[in-house]
Amino acid sequence: MMRRALALARRGGKAVFPNPMVGCVLAKGGRVLAEGWHPKLGGPHAEAAALKIAGSRAKGATAYVTLEPCMAHPGKKNPSCAELLARAGVSRVVAAAIDPNPAVSGKGLALLRRAKIAAESGLLAAEARSLSPHFFARMKRKRPYVILKMALSLDGRAFSPGGASRWITDAPARNLVHDWRAQAQAVMVGSGTALADNPALTSHGAGKNPLRVVMDTRLRLPRKSRLLDGSAPTIVFTASRRKIPGAETVRIPKAAGGLNLRAALKELCRRGINTLLVEGGPTLHAAFLARGLADEARVFIAPKMISGSRDPNAAPTLPSPRLKKMGSDFLISGRLSCSRG
Ligand SMILES: NC(=O)c1ccc[n+]([C@@H]2O[C@H](COP(=O)([O-])OP(=O)(O)OC[C@H]3O[C@@H](n4cnc5c(N)ncnc54)[C@H](OP(=O)(O)O)[C@@H]3O)[C@@H](O)[C@H]2O)c1
Ligand SMILES: [Zn+2]
Repeated sequence: MMRRALALARRGGKAVFPNPMVGCVLAKGGRVLAEGWHPKLGGPHAEAAALKIAGSRAKGATAYVTLEPCMAHPGKKNPSCAELLARAGVSRVVAAAIDPNPAVSGKGLALLRRAKIAAESGLLAAEARSLSPHFFARMKRKRPYVILKMALSLDGRAFSPGGASRWITDAPARNLVHDWRAQAQAVMVGSGTALADNPALTSHGAGKNPLRVVMDTRLRLPRKSRLLDGSAPTIVFTASRRKIPGAETVRIPKAAGGLNLRAALKELCRRGINTLLVEGGPTLHAAFLARGLADEARVFIAPKMISGSRDPNAAPTLPSPRLKKMGSDFLISGRLSCSRG
C-alpha cells in the first residue's frame, strides 16, 4: 500500500515544486478504497483528495501517506489533513516520512493520537524523502526556498530615474506575479520599495494572499502604507523597539546593510513558511545574492529603455523585439519607437 502511495505521489511531478510530492492510499481489509495525490502547488493535499473519493467509507480504514499529515499553519483557514482524517473516522494512519518542517514536525501524528487513531511513521521513509529532496533539504537548512523576482527594462534598470518601478511590465506579467504570490506563502520587500512604490503585495484575487514581509531596520514604514491596510497579514522585521498598528513587528538583529537576513528567514521557517518570493528592490536582492540565500530567479525583461525617462510609461520601446539565444546569452534587438529623422 505504501509503495502504491509513493507511485501516486510521483504523479505530482514538477507541478508541486517547491512543495513535496505526496501520495495517499485509503485501504480496508487489504482492499484499496480510494487513492489521492498532491497534483500541483496550491492544489488539494493527497489525503483530502483520497478522503473526498472515499466519502463515508473512510470510517475504520487505514490511511497510508508518504508524508506526515499536515497540521494547520498559522493563517491557514482550511482544516488540516490531520483534522480531516480524524473527522472521517479512519482507525489507523501509517506515514512514511515525518514532516521535516520544525514548526509542524510530529504535530500531525500527535493530533491523530489525541483523536484515538493509531498513528505511526517510518515505513519506506527514505524512499519518501528521496521523492522531494529540495523540500527536505530546505527544512534541514531552516529557511524557506527563496525566489528572487525582478522586472528590468532592456537597458537593465529596475526603476526609472523618477523612482517609479510599478509599470515596467505589462498586465500579463503582472497577472503572473499575482499567481506567484498566491502560490508563495510569503512575499518580501525592502523598506526602499515599500516607501517608493507603496505596494499592496496581494494576489489581487488570483488566490489566497501571501504573508507580506517588510525589511525595515528603523521602522520607516508610514502608517498609511498599503502594507498596513489589513487586507493580508504583514510582518515588519525591524531593529526598532517600537510597534506599528496593522502589522506584527518582529525585532531581529542588525547586520551590515540592514537586518540579519538569516534571522528573518529562520523566523519565517519557524512559522511554517516554505517558500518566500522576494520582490525587491535591487538592494535587498543583492543582499540575498551576496549571502548565497537565493535559490531561484525569475526575471522579466521589458522591451523598453527607461534610463532616459522619468516616467517608464513614456520610455522608448521596441515595438517588435527579436529574441535570440546565443551560447549562454540572449540577444534582444529591434528598432526603437523614439528614433527620429
Ligand atoms: N523592477 C523591479 O523588479 C523592482 C522591484 C522592487 C522595487 N523596485 C524599485 O526599486 C527601488 C527601491 O529599491 P532599493 O534597492 O532602493 O530598496 P530595497 O531593496 O527595496 O530596500 C533596501 C532597504 O531595505 C532595508 N534592509 C533591511 N535589511 C536589509 C538587508 N539585509 N539587506 C538589504 N537591505 C535591507 C534597508 O533599509 P533600512 O535601513 O530602512 O532597513 C535597505 O536600504 C524603488 O524605486 C522601486 O520602485 C523595482
Ligand atoms: Zn495536508
